Amino acid sequence: MSGFRIAGVGAALPDKILTNNDLKEFMDTSDEWIKERTGISERRVGSSTLELATNAALQAIERSHLEASQIENIVLATTTPEQLCPGTAPAVANNLGIQCGAFDVQAACAGWVYGLMVANGLLLQGAKNVLLIGAEALDKITDFTDRGTGILFGNGGAATILEASEDATGKILAWDLDSNGALGSILYADHGSNFHMEGREVFKKAVTVIESSVNKVLREADVKPADIKLVVPHQANIRIIELAWRKLGFTMDQTATVLERTGNTSAASIPIALEEAVTEGRVEPGDLVLFVGFGAGMTWASALIEWDAP
Ligand code: ACO
Repeated sequence: MSGFRIAGVGAALPDKILTNNDLKEFMDTSDEWIKERTGISERRVGSSTLELATNAALQAIERSHLEASQIENIVLATTTPEQLCPGTAPAVANNLGIQCGAFDVQAACAGWVYGLMVANGLLLQGAKNVLLIGAEALDKITDFTDRGTGILFGNGGAATILEASEDATGKILAWDLDSNGALGSILYADHGSNFHMEGREVFKKAVTVIESSVNKVLREADVKPADIKLVVPHQANIRIIELAWRKLGFTMDQTATVLERTGNTSAASIPIALEEAVTEGRVEPGDLVLFVGFGAGMTWASALIEWDAP
């Protein structure tokens, strides 16, 4: 292939909204505190990773020129698969009525960017297309009585179809995948238990790794912050984004954010924000788009792409 196009995007959120005021029934907190410290007003709960992934995929396919039967590979980034084994991606394929290469990627909130690099690798190996999904049912591992974690997380899913083509100009210009397993203890969920998080530590590390990872990618691509049309960061906390942006020199006008309405949807957060930006017409072929994610592991990842779409 000479490049890829984003042939379609789709998103799915559960119907049930949990507002900050709703949370006051389970914990000692306030709408004001949560908004000020995180930027989050509400999040969605209910549904399931499989249902959200399937619905997002159906919308992305419907908006593309492809039939479900033409999808060759499904890569599903998730921290909350339906079962420990098997992965959820084959069940998504089954719901779409197809059989194809299908597997999950687990890199917590950086998972979708890891998945993007895996998808790009498949295209470079000759695959015609990859349906890349991020989907989460984080309510399954969130204690909504714990005010340190219960205010942050929500459910959602989004799908992006990458299609290889001889005349497409879309490509990865620079990328960075990284991790530090020594930091595994600051954010984790054991089998059968909820998230455990040292919020302040995660916050500080997140700002540091976003800055270093994005700087590395910009340096490698020889691109300045102002050259980038759209930056889609992991949607964890608006203060993390604002602090990192101050260091990096990005503006909020360049940025896609949905966390005010979704909370942190882990591996689904970047593609949900991307879907909204795309449907609002914020990116055009030739634009530079930057993704940056970070999460449990700790893992982090950035990818700078040249956008192309039909
Ligand atoms: N409501 C009201 N008060 C609260 C709440 C709450 N929900 N939570 C904490 N407080 C209180 C604390 O008890 C403390 O009170 P004190 O000063 O009297 O002791 C005070 O508020 C400050 O507490 P901090 O924990 O220092 O608050 P902070 O500003 O750090 O905000 C938060 C906490 C929102 C969790 C923040 O640390 C954060 O966002 N961290 C990053 C989390 C994150 O991004 N996680 C996802 C990573 S991605 C993944 O892989 C899932």
